[in-house]
Amino acid sequence: MKMMMKLLLFLCGVLWVSADVLHESLWIIGCSDSDGEDTYTLDGEELWYADFKKGKGVISVPPFVDHITCAGCYEQAVGYQQICRSNLKNSRIGMKDIPDENDAPSGLVIYPRDDVELGEKNILICHVSGFYPAPVNVSWTRNGQKVTEGTSINVPFPSKDNTFTQISRLQFVPQIGDIYSCTVEHLALEEPQTRTWDVEMDNPQSGPGPAIFCGVGLTVGLLGVAVGTFFLIKGNECS
Ligand SMILES: *[C@@H]1O[C@H](CO)[C@@H](O)[C@H](O)[C@H]1NC(C)=O
Repeated sequence: MKMMMKLLLFLCGVLWVSADVLHESLWIIGCSDSDGEDTYTLDGEELWYADFKKGKGVISVPPFVDHITCAGCYEQAVGYQQICRSNLKNSRIGMKDIPDENDAPSGLVIYPRDDVELGEKNILICHVSGFYPAPVNVSWTRNGQKVTEGTSINVPFPSKDNTFTQISRLQFVPQIGDIYSCTVEHLALEEPQTRTWDVEMDNPQSGPGPAIFCGVGLTVGLLGVAVGTFFLIKGNECS
């Protein structure tokens, strides 16, 4: 019901077995008034998607995978967008334009893809999930300055609960003391939500751990002395 109103999705799930491993292949077609999506995925990874803003198909498998092509796929995707929009229009009429429920993102996590090595190229991931409708806008900062270079975002990926997930990435080189943030905008959020991550956080030698243990130890110790002194004085008074 929810799906039908703002974003019609036709999920063609094809399951096949190869070498005793079950794979899930998904073809996602969706449209709204302002956006459209046509994506092929395998086991949750994008293989190909139509970039309607640039007017072409994009192969999104990593470079180590054998070269794949999708001849005619973009033209086909454009055709399906027309069908999707007309279905959307019809189902709105059919459902008397009942207002749709919007869900703000329920999950927002920032983390590095690889173990952090200072000076070694890495990728920061901002994982946004549980929102409806798609898409979200994700922006990045480094030490408070906006960063656009080296950023990318996946097309919205539908979950079984009719919400979406999107993953934004930032290529970066960890330098000690650098602070990164990703900020998410969604129409169901009154104000943007931000998560920060700093390079030191992942560096066990420089965490706050020892200082905290020292502080707690000292406090407990002093408390012991105070209690001891109290009973010493009380004891003397009684005798
Ligand atoms: C995302 O950014 C675009 C372009 O700046 C803007 O038009 C749109 O309203 C933004 N979406 C949200 C949900 O904030």
